[in-house]
Amino acid sequence: MCEIEQVENDRLEVKLLLEAIYLKYGYDFRKYASAHTKRRLEHRRTLEGLPNMAAMQHLLIHDESFFNRLLLDLSINVTEMFRDPWFYKKVREFVVPYLQTYPFAKVWHAGCSAGQEVYSMGIVLREEGMKERVQMYATDFNELILAKAKDGIYPMNLVREYTANYQQAGGSSSFSDYYTADYDNVVMKRFLKEQVLFSSHNLVTDGVFGEMNAIFCRNVLIYFNRDLQNRVLNLFYESLCPGGFLCLGSKENIKFSDVAHKFEVVAEREKIYRKKRM
Ligand SMILES: C[S@@+](CC[C@H](N)C(=O)[O-])C[C@H]1O[C@@H](n2cnc3c(N)ncnc32)[C@H](O)[C@@H]1O
Repeated sequence: MCEIEQVENDRLEVKLLLEAIYLKYGYDFRKYASAHTKRRLEHRRTLEGLPNMAAMQHLLIHDESFFNRLLLDLSINVTEMFRDPWFYKKVREFVVPYLQTYPFAKVWHAGCSAGQEVYSMGIVLREEGMKERVQMYATDFNELILAKAKDGIYPMNLVREYTANYQQAGGSSSFSDYYTADYDNVVMKRFLKEQVLFSSHNLVTDGVFGEMNAIFCRNVLIYFNRDLQNRVLNLFYESLCPGGFLCLGSKENIKFSDVAHKFEVVAEREKIYRKKRM
């Protein structure tokens, strides 16, 4: 078999596997970035000692626990508290003063992973005097990771890094005010959890999420192809009130999308955009 034919066959096998996932479990990875998806599938295939994608497809259809392992591989839950501290400085500077103009505001964290991003924003809002005036929504399509987000329990060995991030992000208190230590873990304080509603939401298959004043979707779009990024950016546009803010991850942007002209750029490097009032 020539090299081109091999590449085509590999692509077909991946396509069939993603189709099987969609048809059997309803999770749609068909428009995720292809190189990344293929790498993650190969990674799981090797770990499980499976000879090829066809064997993987068989196992996937007949064994839900295998699918759950694969789902974790495909969803990449890497996150941290005050990730990119310079980003949170800009949030304090531009997004928070806008939220303060409302008696009550709504903020959505889409693809919230294990919750660190949500609690970081909760801390910022509290320090800026907005603790009771914001309802935060935190969503992810991965139920396991969402349960971790609700628990808000993180390994103690990460606290030093989280504390440094918090300080660089302009934190005005002591990071230890926000958690209690519990053996090898820390647990985020109850008052931070009370501000948040956690729920399952799939950016590929679910619809608009209500009228938000700000949407954070950081480091999620990088896993999608252009077509899907465009769809999701439209979803965010529809879910934002006029003047509302959209915050993406450092490697993401809206330039190529068909909603680009409907947003103004607030902070280029931090990827903070604002929905124009048309
Ligand atoms: C790399 S993490 C980013 C976490 C956090 N926003 C941050 O920047 O630190 C990507 C998250 O997106 C979620 N995700 C991937 N595809 C999704 C989809 N279709 N709908 C909702 N969440 C999705 C994953 O489960 C994962 O928790």
